[in-house]
Amino acid sequence: MPRPEVSEHADLAGLSTFRLPARAAQLVVLDQLEQLPELPIRAGAPGDRLILGGGSNTVFLDDWPGQVVLNRLRGVATETLSPDRVRVRVAAGESWHRLVRWCLDQKLYGLENLILIPGLVGAAPMQNIGAYGVELADVLESVTVWDWSRQASAEIPAAECGLAYRDSRFKSSERGRFLITAVAFRLSRTFRPVLGYRSLADALAERPLSDPRPRQLAATIMRLRRRRLPDPARLANAGSFFKNPVVSPDQARSLLCEHPDLPHWRLADGRVKLAAGWMIEQLGWRGHRIGDAGVHEHHALVLVNHGRASAGQLAELIGVLRQSVRTAFGVVLEPEPQLIGWSENEKRG
Ligand code: FAD
Ligand code: EPU
Repeated sequence: MPRPEVSEHADLAGLSTFRLPARAAQLVVLDQLEQLPELPIRAGAPGDRLILGGGSNTVFLDDWPGQVVLNRLRGVATETLSPDRVRVRVAAGESWHRLVRWCLDQKLYGLENLILIPGLVGAAPMQNIGAYGVELADVLESVTVWDWSRQASAEIPAAECGLAYRDSRFKSSERGRFLITAVAFRLSRTFRPVLGYRSLADALAERPLSDPRPRQLAATIMRLRRRRLPDPARLANAGSFFKNPVVSPDQARSLLCEHPDLPHWRLADGRVKLAAGWMIEQLGWRGHRIGDAGVHEHHALVLVNHGRASAGQLAELIGVLRQSVRTAFGVVLEPEPQLIGWSENEKRG
């Protein structure tokens, strides 16, 4: 078995789509499962190790003092469960977008609304990725992990992953405990389009597709995404920079009384999710810059690095936006990507 590639004092800027300058004390490329028990350990503390996939949801505000493990495990396997149901088991280092396209080619359905989300498959359960009315939880069967604390593999059924809006046990309560090695999906041979998301429904109404085919639906979603979200290859960013805040029914009622146009979604438990992008835009921040750290011109929920942004400029911009939204709307914006080097004080806002 080839030993994992290891480098010291490694440059991380090109490994994160926000592209802030940063370094890791050590970088290890993991491309075979058998390498896991043999991985070099630098300091031994679990918090010393950070897993990176495509780096599209990780922003380096500081260097990483320990080891970064770059997940490059590859492979896809399918298993027919019934005439309609197929299990697709995918190694964590596969590209998410390529997986969705491959499923469309195989006529396996369930992932099409999640097309064009950057990053790798292993990160998808971390924040229960979601877009256009579908989230990973709708199709996830199980997650296979390497448990650093036990130095052993385990399979975690979807129901035990703690999946919620942009959250999971991997992202919150058990951060750092597991390396996700593979993800299993339950897909269908029958196409059951999910068309309810507002802007998708509007786009389909513009170009009526009463019975859209899978590829037409995927193409429509790609068009919508390209219209509003910057391509990280051209303009560095990490997608939505804040979660959409979820508030109590009472708080929502008074906010909506004052701001009847505030886009919102009622959740099954009665709470209400508010569109953070709308709030930031209303306060006039679209296009605003602090040095090279800016608010995207077409979508106020997306922060961008115009080229040479520093961690200090980005931290200042985050602070200004959170303070402004808190003062005007009384809600605290929580960053969505993993911010490396962001202090506990700043997290509380
Ligand atoms: P990384 O940034 O590499 O990792 C993210 C987190 O997961 C880190 O905490 C990392 O330590 C951890 N991690 C990664 N891999 C593993 C592993 N194998 N085991 C354990 N931990 C791991 N997200 C959405 O949900 N919906 C969207 O519509 C969406 N649109 C986006 C659009 C743009 C332009 C961009 C830049 C981002 C968007 N995102 C979206 C966010 C991001 O693409 C997703 O969160 C994606 O799943 C991140 O994948 P990654 O491999 O790049 O993750
Ligand atoms: N809006 C504005 N101004 C803006 C941005 C948005 O008024 O500058 C309004 C829109 O007009 C719309 C509402 O806010 O009425 C919601 O906007 P959009 O449909 O663009 O979705 P979002 O809430 O901003 C979320 C996800 C995205 C996901 C889209 C589509 C979060 C944090 N973000 O964005 O995910 O692609 O819905 O489902 O939930 C990501 O996680 O990185 C990401 C891009």
